[in-house]
Amino acid sequence: MKGLILSGGKGTRMRPITHTAAKQLLPVANKPILFYGIEAIKSAGIKDIGIIISPETGEDVKAVVGDGSRWGIKIEYILQDQPLGLAHAVKTARPFLKDDTFVMYLGDNLIKDGVAPLVKRFNETSVDAFILLKEVNNPSAFGVAHLDGNGRILSLEEKPAHPKSNLALVGVYLFTKNIHKAIDEIKPSRRGELEITDAIQRLITTNYHVGSYVLQSWWLDTGKKDDMLEANRVVLDEMNDVSMLGDLQEGSRISGRVRIGKGSILKNCTVRGPAMIGDDCVLEDSYVGPFTSIGDRAQVTHAEIEHSILRENCQILDFHGRIEDSLIGVNVELTRSNFKPVAFRLMLGDDSKVEVV
Ligand code: DAU
Repeated sequence: MKGLILSGGKGTRMRPITHTAAKQLLPVANKPILFYGIEAIKSAGIKDIGIIISPETGEDVKAVVGDGSRWGIKIEYILQDQPLGLAHAVKTARPFLKDDTFVMYLGDNLIKDGVAPLVKRFNETSVDAFILLKEVNNPSAFGVAHLDGNGRILSLEEKPAHPKSNLALVGVYLFTKNIHKAIDEIKPSRRGELEITDAIQRLITTNYHVGSYVLQSWWLDTGKKDDMLEANRVVLDEMNDVSMLGDLQEGSRISGRVRIGKGSILKNCTVRGPAMIGDDCVLEDSYVGPFTSIGDRAQVTHAEIEHSILRENCQILDFHGRIEDSLIGVNVELTRSNFKPVAFRLMLGDDSKVEVV
């Protein structure tokens, strides 16, 4: 069995952050989202992974992920010229996939239980495709499945205006080679994409067997800023590694589950977990609240930060204010000269410079 991870697309919903970075490389608990998918597939015993990349961000993805040797697996890159849909990505990957069965994983998805239990179920049954479903409050934002009383799939629809159920398609799928024929038989959707949802519907219509399983544990699609913050919250909430490799200097206090990386210095700071501070950071006279992750080499002085993601090399200096529910890109400089207490909710792309006066 092979793995296919989709890390192409345009990432328009995450702008300005994705003007300069692939959305799949944004960090959740200081680790690129894409790594969670790679590790989930590896845990299912799959060692041969193809990653779909786009011309815009493909080189960054390659540079960050590498050839897979760090996980003891083999990673191949497959360039998709344009984001013409998930089924188009599978078509593009056909020379890599050959006639093998494969797990397809959307590079911006996170699921708690990984894919190993799913692969086991798939191997135990003789279905042509296996999909994962999850109850959601906003089904119109997803592919939606309509099941009968016995849990058999009646139909699938991509982002329907009037959904027939609240069961969304999760971005993890298992396929046999029969999916390729179905993809060849579908037409682009209203949004001009070859939809994998339509290809699976085609399998159903032509009497192939499609199995499904309704997830009970969490699943996150990190398409927007608030989804990223929620993913960060959920992953930090389950963090077990609370290693303290930094230097806690005078006046600093830590409570709850907190991880601090090597070379980081905290002076007169309070950190309330769950929270994560990367390597070589310098924090002074500051408060870091729950569900915050701070990337390597960040510098923070006179600031309060809570429920936020700060990326590498950020400088939040003499800020005298509170930052919450924020996503701040790489190399951002944020300074302030007016000390009236206020709170900020920010989405700042890489290299932004903000001076609040
Ligand atoms: O997250 C689950 C949902 O994912 C499903 O419920 C939907 O049925 C499915 O169509 C998909 O919908 P999205 O609108 O969320 O897909 P998105 O365009 O965000 O693409 C998902 C991933 O695939 C993302 O990492 C980008 C990548 N991608 C996307 C397209 C359209 C590609 O690599 N190539 C593409 O052509």
